[in-house]
Amino acid sequence: MNRRDMTKKDIITIRDLSTEEILELMRVARKLKKSPFARAKALRNKTLALLFQKPSNRTRVSFEVGMAHLGGYTLYLSPQEIDMGGRETVKDVACVISRYVDGIVVRVFAHQDAVIFARYSAVPVINGLSDFAHPCQALSDVFTIREKFGSLKKRRIAFIGDGNNVLNSLLMTCARTGVSLNIATPRGYEPEREVFEEAAGIAKKHRAVFNFFNDPHEAVKGCDAVYTDVWISMGQENVREQRLKDFEGFQVNETLMRATGKDALIMHCLPAHRGEEITDIIDGKNSIVYDQAENRMHVEKAVLLKTLRKRG
Ligand code: CP
Ligand code: NVA
Repeated sequence: MNRRDMTKKDIITIRDLSTEEILELMRVARKLKKSPFARAKALRNKTLALLFQKPSNRTRVSFEVGMAHLGGYTLYLSPQEIDMGGRETVKDVACVISRYVDGIVVRVFAHQDAVIFARYSAVPVINGLSDFAHPCQALSDVFTIREKFGSLKKRRIAFIGDGNNVLNSLLMTCARTGVSLNIATPRGYEPEREVFEEAAGIAKKHRAVFNFFNDPHEAVKGCDAVYTDVWISMGQENVREQRLKDFEGFQVNETLMRATGKDALIMHCLPAHRGEEITDIIDGKNSIVYDQAENRMHVEKAVLLKTLRKRG
């Protein structure tokens, strides 16, 4: 393929998906979870490149195994191998790799690199995490919430911690699917105002309400699940000490879970840092973190079918 396919479907943020598309992805994912090999030839002769600037367990393994289930191949390109932005420009890497393969998952530091990459790639690009977004994670999270509660209606989730990539994508996915969110972050770590306001506006149309708190105990009251993520994301290691101080009081622990007033579930995208953002409560009976991780694969298979199948 040497021309850009103008109908290609990139998923760089959840904004690239309508509510109908998200619900359809979830329907397909549910079927695939029941029958993992039902579409064993759907992506025969297709190759997916995984171009990663950061380490990964879930994203890499779930895409690789998912692609194998659908009859396709994957090619893992490590940070050292390609050195995007160092050895070559983002544009050159995108233009070249997209002539070889049928789809590309990128994991980048700067979100803008994912945007530029998608602009120049001739084939669909899926964001496998940037400093701004983690759309595949959020799709899997909402899929898992539905799986646990049987429906998304009238569910309220609390997100406690950093207003980061995971929260940004969760905000938009919950908004589009009508899941209410209570958010608590320390001052200075709120999600960007425009992101929050856009998502809250969409949520309203779907009868969901988004609330912001600075006190985590207030935020979790009445919530069905409590979600957290690391305080120090990949690439932020140099500000570790400052962040540990700033996030004091935002740990998900037994006291905070009691403040829900419910038998609430515990969510985390993983990897987790026990003793920092969460205690070993993550290993208890209310934790659904391994379901979230497993569901990455089922949902991503649906994403691959949607994005990669079009081309001949
Ligand atoms: N949750 C998640 O994306 O995990 P990895 O960083 O291991 O891929
Ligand atoms: N916020 C975390 C998510 C890891 C899946 C990070 O960016 O490192």
